[in-house]
Amino acid sequence: MKIECPDCRKAYKIPDEKIPFGKKFAVSCLDCKKRIVIDLRSEAKPNRVTQPSKPEKKTQAVKTARETSFGKKQPSGIKLKYGILRTLDDLPAMPHVVQKAQGIMARPDSNIKELARVIELEQAIATRVLKLANSAYYGMSGKVSSIQHASVLLGFKTLGELISVAGISNLMSKDLKGYQLDSGDLWRHSIAVAFGSRIIANRKDTDFGNLAFFAGLIHDAGKLILDPYVYERKDSFDEFMADGEDTFENAEKIILGFDHSEIASELCQKWKIPNDQRIAVQFHHHPSRSDGNELAFILHMADYIAIINGYETGTNGTQYQMEDGVMDFLNLCEEDVEYIKKDVQESVEKMSEEVHAD
Ligand SMILES: [Fe+2]
Ligand SMILES: [Fe+2]
Repeated sequence: MKIECPDCRKAYKIPDEKIPFGKKFAVSCLDCKKRIVIDLRSEAKPNRVTQPSKPEKKTQAVKTARETSFGKKQPSGIKLKYGILRTLDDLPAMPHVVQKAQGIMARPDSNIKELARVIELEQAIATRVLKLANSAYYGMSGKVSSIQHASVLLGFKTLGELISVAGISNLMSKDLKGYQLDSGDLWRHSIAVAFGSRIIANRKDTDFGNLAFFAGLIHDAGKLILDPYVYERKDSFDEFMADGEDTFENAEKIILGFDHSEIASELCQKWKIPNDQRIAVQFHHHPSRSDGNELAFILHMADYIAIINGYETGTNGTQYQMEDGVMDFLNLCEEDVEYIKKDVQESVEKMSEEVHAD
């Protein structure tokens, strides 16, 4: 459906599936920010039979997905999801130290000594924390010599953030063939979303900058689990995405029966991530379905900023369907987004020298 801003005359094309036919709704013009009200209370949803070629093509892609070259059925939907969930216990667990640090940080009566003690007992993580503390991003080049020293120089929140980054980096640095991500691509994307989420949370004067950072780090962890299943069905995914009209999340939903954000939510449960963060991760592509979870909107915006910054090309390329109304919800204008984009880029570049520390 085409709409036009009544003020600046900029025209937009909104996909029919995103239009609430039968309702009155409003969107903001990306150019002049004017609110455009569209009344479709008397309009019925158009019959999609008017586009015969696309559904036919997609049906073939789904059919191909469910059949191997030997004619056997490949599982999808609930059956596949349960099969995957049964394997979650075999997957690398969230490092114990990260879980412990998150628990300490969530307690109002905790202190930095407790946090420092947790890492001192884990030599590999402690070494990585020190490397990161001495990276250009934290501006302590060569000055931090011990965890005690780091805790004095960096403070409670930053030390907690460093533990998360150091603890999760190995898990998120793998190459993912199904998603066409080279080693380090998902990691760069994840820290970009973490930085972006924290910046947006702090601008909104929330007190959950640290939680937003952590949610950003793990928001796409579902891809780690789905990657072999996507790779197994590569031909179907390629066929589905060939017309360039869909997102990869839609391909996951159609071909597998669910997407990586649903699996990430299950993983969050296994990792005992607090419910608010779990819901935000589950709805990071559709925050309007999260029942007003502010962090889900923040993750969605930060995900968009990471992608327009070029942090994650892979299967999604630069394509990202941002939901209408997210910038309004977060009270952000185009200039804010430009500023955050630049800030995120500088942060990722400064930290990137330590991305593959091991
Ligand atoms: Fe995602
Ligand atoms: Fe993402």
